[in-house]
Amino acid sequence: MSETKSVIDVCIAGTGSYVPERILSNEELAAKVDTSDEWIVTRTGIKERRIAAEGQFTSHLATNAARKALEQAGLAAEDIELIIVATITPDTPTPATACHVQKALGASKAVAFDISAACSGFLYAMKISKRLISDGAFKNALIIGAEKLSSVTNWSDRSTCVLFGDGAGAAVLRRAEPGEGSIVATEMGTDGSLTHLLEIPGGGTACPITSENVNDNLQTLSMLGKEVFKHAVNRMKEAAEKVIERAGWQPEDIACVIPHQANLRIIDAIADRLAVPNERVFVNLHKYGNTSAAAVAIALDEANRTGVFKRGDKIVLVVFGAGLTWAAAAIEW
Ligand code: UT7
Repeated sequence: MSETKSVIDVCIAGTGSYVPERILSNEELAAKVDTSDEWIVTRTGIKERRIAAEGQFTSHLATNAARKALEQAGLAAEDIELIIVATITPDTPTPATACHVQKALGASKAVAFDISAACSGFLYAMKISKRLISDGAFKNALIIGAEKLSSVTNWSDRSTCVLFGDGAGAAVLRRAEPGEGSIVATEMGTDGSLTHLLEIPGGGTACPITSENVNDNLQTLSMLGKEVFKHAVNRMKEAAEKVIERAGWQPEDIACVIPHQANLRIIDAIADRLAVPNERVFVNLHKYGNTSAAAVAIALDEANRTGVFKRGDKIVLVVFGAGLTWAAAAIEW
């Protein structure tokens, strides 16, 4: 599903992110499961991840990130007309985490709902809100990727527990004024024939958690890593190429690629295939691991706040996750 021209241009007016204080290092994990810092760093690039405190929910992480994005955008909570939270770890199955965020922010005029598109959710939310703003339905939107993956991690499975972390990233989208940057092109896709590669099998209607299966870890993430790896490289490369082409850009025009932060080997493979030099690819997974929907949003905020790109620069975001899902966006900052 693709998009190029809109009636009204839409820009990113502010970004924000928040990660919990508690750092869980590779060494600490190696004391609990049969793994090592060497294996984790070599195979993934991850050094440490953040873990939310007990009583700290996804909406709390999301709200903290959102406040920073609002502040940078120079908007008040009451100016926001749409809140979309992308998450696979909602505070509650219903109501949506976005409703908890709306209340916490005092964004009483905003329509608020969640979307579930795993690691691709933040860019799905970007495309949805861009369209709703460019169609004239809303002026200002807040999109958030937020996860407390520590609550759905099987801490005895070394093949997954070393990968994930908690955090949130947010962006405020609004109508662009003449001369401002804009979201130039977007792309998103899904392959539902591969749901089994990465899933939380239990806890829904297909497999409710019962007193009989409660100890089987069905409510935790399971993944066929090698298969997911292969699809991640191919799909992200294709999605990024599509938005670059639609934007009319060349690889050498791109100041920064911000990919989903799951595995440094995947990121390196994509940079190679897109012919973008590694120094123009933003990486922070060594600090946070894979935070699913939050990952690209946190990376965008860190890159923005540390001056990795400046006004007018061309940047590409590209993500991949369970579903399987993928998405990309070409943004003139
Ligand atoms: O966010 C959504 C998208 N997710 C992704 O994109 C993740 C994609 N997949 C990956 O990043 C990689 O497949 C993993 C990092 C998950 C795994 O890396 P891999 O190079 O594909 O390793 P593997 O699963 O093939 O395992 C290689 C070996 C196995 O041992 P044997 O069978 O060769 O003896 C595993 O049992 O490494 C073993 N292993 C570990 N060893 C130490 C698996 N996990 C660990 C571990 N520590 N934590």
